[in-house]
Amino acid sequence: MKPVILDVDTGLDDACALLLAARHPELDLKAVTCVGGNVGLDDVVVNTLTVLEAAGRTDVPVARGAALPLLQPVRAAPHVHGVDGLGNLDWPRSSRTPGPGHAVELLRDVLRDAAATGELVTLIPLAPMTNIALLLRTYPDAAAGLREIVFMGGAAGIGNATASAEFNIWTDPEAAAIVLAAAAELGVPVTMYGLDVFYDVVITLDQARSLGDSPSAELARRLIEKRSELYQSDGASIGDGGAVCAVIDPAGLTTQPFPLRVELSGTWSRGRTIVDTRDWSSDLTNDPHGPSPAVVQVATAVDGKRYADLWLSAVK
Ligand code: RIB
Ligand code: CA
Repeated sequence: MKPVILDVDTGLDDACALLLAARHPELDLKAVTCVGGNVGLDDVVVNTLTVLEAAGRTDVPVARGAALPLLQPVRAAPHVHGVDGLGNLDWPRSSRTPGPGHAVELLRDVLRDAAATGELVTLIPLAPMTNIALLLRTYPDAAAGLREIVFMGGAAGIGNATASAEFNIWTDPEAAAIVLAAAAELGVPVTMYGLDVFYDVVITLDQARSLGDSPSAELARRLIEKRSELYQSDGASIGDGGAVCAVIDPAGLTTQPFPLRVELSGTWSRGRTIVDTRDWSSDLTNDPHGPSPAVVQVATAVDGKRYADLWLSAVK
């Protein structure tokens, strides 16, 4: 069993990731932390509790985290996830409440326990990284409980929120920059599951409709149907769910180590992940910036069918 924590801004594809993480037999979902992003924090929390309930996992601790980015004014995405964040599905919303502590405190406690037992946790941020930045700067000792960070965000190629930036990084660029710097300082390995692979794990409507009638299967079907409807296609990617697949089955993902920086001040490029694919063995001594201290495994390709089958087998 791989211990994992998901940090989410539950929208439709975060829901795909939660169903997988909650139900896959090889994952031990230790906690889920919530942050404002796709929709406001209140809806993110209710959506997260709702999805975990459908997955039969009301045992998983859930905590509220940051409602707003560190500096950037929040810019939600109701046009992508619906006003309520779950595609306005008429799915009964959970009446449960999250745990009493802040997300940063839940992350701290779970990671300190992991450091003590040696069962290190893979942290999977699938949202703006505000909670993660606050954690690593407030409780750096907690990093001793981390095996690695596998985050959905960024892009070596084009953006989605803007031509240049991917939504999670664009929403809180300072948080992303802090996480990369802190992880490098603290020696935590980082994998970037960016837009370059994000769209490549696709579930067809036929596959979704053959999942069966358990609450998890029914919700999985509805999520794919809603995303297919939004994108007017006969199937939909599981988006964030692919990052969880990469933790379960790393062999399905191709990565390369590249120096990585986040643009914080560009008028048109703020929030861009600058993936430095240059050959650093050549003479780059004239580069005034020098190499980024953050070298991360950047996902460059994914076996979409392999991960689609993995997701289907877990959520049906
Ligand atoms: O850019 C895609 C990312 O932004 C996904 O995590 C999606 O859920 C939104 O948060
Ligand atoms: Ca997300």
